[in-house]
Amino acid sequence: MVTSRIGVLGRGRLPADEPVLRADDLGVLRGDGLFETMHLRDGRAWLRQEHLARLRSGAAAVELALPADDALVELLDEVAADWPAEVEGALRLVCTRGPERGGPPTVYATLSEVAPAAPQARHDGVSVATLSLGVPAEARPELDWLPAGIKSTSYGASSAARRWAARAGVDDVLWISSDGYALEGPTANLVWLAGETLCTVPAGRTGILPGTTVAWLLAHAADVGCGAAERMVTPTELRKAEGVWLTSSVRGLVAVHTLDGEPLPPSPLTRALQQLLGFPLP
Ligand SMILES: Cc1ncc(COP(=O)(O)O)c(C=O)c1O
Repeated sequence: MVTSRIGVLGRGRLPADEPVLRADDLGVLRGDGLFETMHLRDGRAWLRQEHLARLRSGAAAVELALPADDALVELLDEVAADWPAEVEGALRLVCTRGPERGGPPTVYATLSEVAPAAPQARHDGVSVATLSLGVPAEARPELDWLPAGIKSTSYGASSAARRWAARAGVDDVLWISSDGYALEGPTANLVWLAGETLCTVPAGRTGILPGTTVAWLLAHAADVGCGAAERMVTPTELRKAEGVWLTSSVRGLVAVHTLDGEPLPPSPLTRALQQLLGFPLP
């Protein structure tokens, strides 16, 4: 195991156990902040520009003053410097609103080795259970006061869903809207194969997180002989799909082998999609 690292904007690399947050930081008190998690491969952050672009659009949506991209890139480079090329890393960039009584945003980055569970899930696939989100699929973007599709540090609902999954004895969860559509997982986007079209759920229409991994995958779908589309889908339709996967930056692409206790047939495309995305397998 390689030692985890921390870097703070304006302070550079620090010992991994150095405190970096004030007790009154609004990121801690209110979950008022944004973050990005990138996959570090060959010592470099994959899709760094896409992550920074999502962070910036999230910051605009929640009116958070971000430092310039150059400063963020410098911080990320500082933290990732000399990381062993053969070790997969999870590089996280966190920007909170800073101290409660005012002050600049708190900006720091952490880097740690990807846990063995991630390559294992790429290899084995995951069991998934559907879980009601309790709102119609298109309700959230209709509320013009509510920032949708941002990667907020406020992950209470995601953590609750993951705990529910553990109690239910499944690996992951797929959130379902009150009108019956599959949306996303607590930390992943949904991808499925319909005929020869790789599909995902439209983020703009539903307010789910626009995933960097799924966007890249669908943009390169032609490389594996597929078309690409954004569609709404129900769990019943998913059961008839030629393949069902979850995608996210660190775990990559994992096959859903069981949905609500029903086995899904393995897709011959899984390995090709994983190779396309360039994630190592165990
Ligand atoms: C709710 C949610 N949806 C989707 C994703 C996948 O996004 P990305 O591929 O950019 O990691 C994440 C990532 O953590 C997430 O938290």
